[in-house]
Amino acid sequence: MRAWLAIALLIAACDAPREPIAPSTPPIDPSLEPWSDAWLDAHATRYLDDARARRDALEASLTNPENLYSQTRLAAYGRERSGWDVLPVWSPRVRRIDAEVAVAMARGETPAIDERVAPLWAGTRPTTHDAWIALGERVFFELPLRTEPFWDRAIRDAEHGASVGVERAPDGSVPGLVLTRDVEGRTGVGITCALCHSARDASGAIVAGRARRTLDYGRVRIDFYEARGAAIDPHTRARWESWGPGRADVLEDVADLPIAIPDLWGLRHQRLLTQAGTLRHATPLALAIRQETQYVQANHHRTRPPRELMWALVAYLESLEAPAAPAYVGATRDRERGALVFARECGRCHANAVGSGDLVPIDEIGTDAELATGRARGTGGYRPAPLVRVADAAPYLHHGVVPTLESLLDPAREEPGHRFGMELDDDELGLLIAYLRSR
Ligand code: HEC
Ligand code: HEC
Repeated sequence: MRAWLAIALLIAACDAPREPIAPSTPPIDPSLEPWSDAWLDAHATRYLDDARARRDALEASLTNPENLYSQTRLAAYGRERSGWDVLPVWSPRVRRIDAEVAVAMARGETPAIDERVAPLWAGTRPTTHDAWIALGERVFFELPLRTEPFWDRAIRDAEHGASVGVERAPDGSVPGLVLTRDVEGRTGVGITCALCHSARDASGAIVAGRARRTLDYGRVRIDFYEARGAAIDPHTRARWESWGPGRADVLEDVADLPIAIPDLWGLRHQRLLTQAGTLRHATPLALAIRQETQYVQANHHRTRPPRELMWALVAYLESLEAPAAPAYVGATRDRERGALVFARECGRCHANAVGSGDLVPIDEIGTDAELATGRARGTGGYRPAPLVRVADAAPYLHHGVVPTLESLLDPAREEPGHRFGMELDDDELGLLIAYLRSR
């Protein structure tokens, strides 16, 4: 009887004409400094409690409403009574792979994920900026996008793990992977943001936001199927081998286009998100919706994450700044001269606080056009890559194909496009590169 009623109500809800939803939250106080913590916090209820504001923010954030990324979201997001808004909320129990769990798994055990494991979030909204950030850090490291079978062995066998970029923190934990129960209730290894967006620095410490340039998303698949004696057709194998470390194919269509994993530092200074500038980052809602819909897609549109966790994730992401740059090697005057060369040759595009800027049309930048003009996320151009800690960000360009700063600025480079700073004499070239290394 109850089921029948629920179905009847559902049908009634679907049939009802869609009433225009009025924004229900007050406008943002114009005296707040844009991108300050207070300004970010002021947006929380618009995202959490205001379906109309979410839909408006989605529409405003799409650089090219025609690409697949946009079309999928325009069809299903922020519709309140249908589409992804009515999906069940999934808030799984998870266990971090700390040293104890890693050791147990190396022995062949799989710790249970049962009622004794507390859910990631108890259901109470944080009330301070710092509390949102603290919850967001947990989401970043612990909330799985989905389970993937490939990583189990990478935890149990540390050597194999190291060969595919499953890095270990000094305390023996494995950031980026968790044990969880998936939507079907099966225990498995889940991947989180930190798998691709945290990495060890020279001292071995894990740095949040740093791209995992050792992660070999193709190799781990090949090894998984080979270990089970399964055949891999030559085309698929070649495809996976071609990705190499530090790149992942995250697109929504079938084109095979691995993209370099970016560092996530200084996002609050970037007005365009993703290498092709797929999203305008006018308010934090753009990023919150990106993350919410990424989770929905990762679970094949069966569940959606609690929005509070997405807002926490955004507070955390917007707070990530790069570790301090190494001291400039040489005289301060030389650094200033290098900065002048940069301003003259590069500053018109690499213009803002993090060295990014407005979209550059593909004809002008001339690098590989496939992502920029493709159906998946194309916008007709590329965003100037942010240059925060750029010396550590090799290999360069959106597809990670240029090995060093020297080769990027070398007129003899074969990889097409980005022909800037190629006529500098040795003196200015040296100053420019030394300057870039100190950014
Ligand atoms: C499998 C690896 C992988 C995982 C897991 C992953 N990302 Fe990414 N991320 C990427 C790649 C590759 C890109 C570049 C995409 C592009 O430019 O189109 C990217 C881009 C981004 C960007 C845009 C950055 C910029 O400079 O514009 C943000 C923000 C981001 N990811 C956040 C996250 C968060 C938050 C999570 C967890 C929910 C996550 N990512 C999970 C690989 C990953
Ligand atoms: C006309 C605009 C423009 C100018 C001028 C320009 N760039 Fe760029 N730059 C871009 C764009 C767009 C990208 C991303 C292209 C891509 O990924 O295909 C980029 C990418 C880069 C990257 C790659 C960073 C990474 O992490 O992958 C570096 C380094 C860089 N630029 C340095 C410079 C330097 C140094 C100069 C001056 C000598 C310069 N750029 C001049 C637009 C420009």
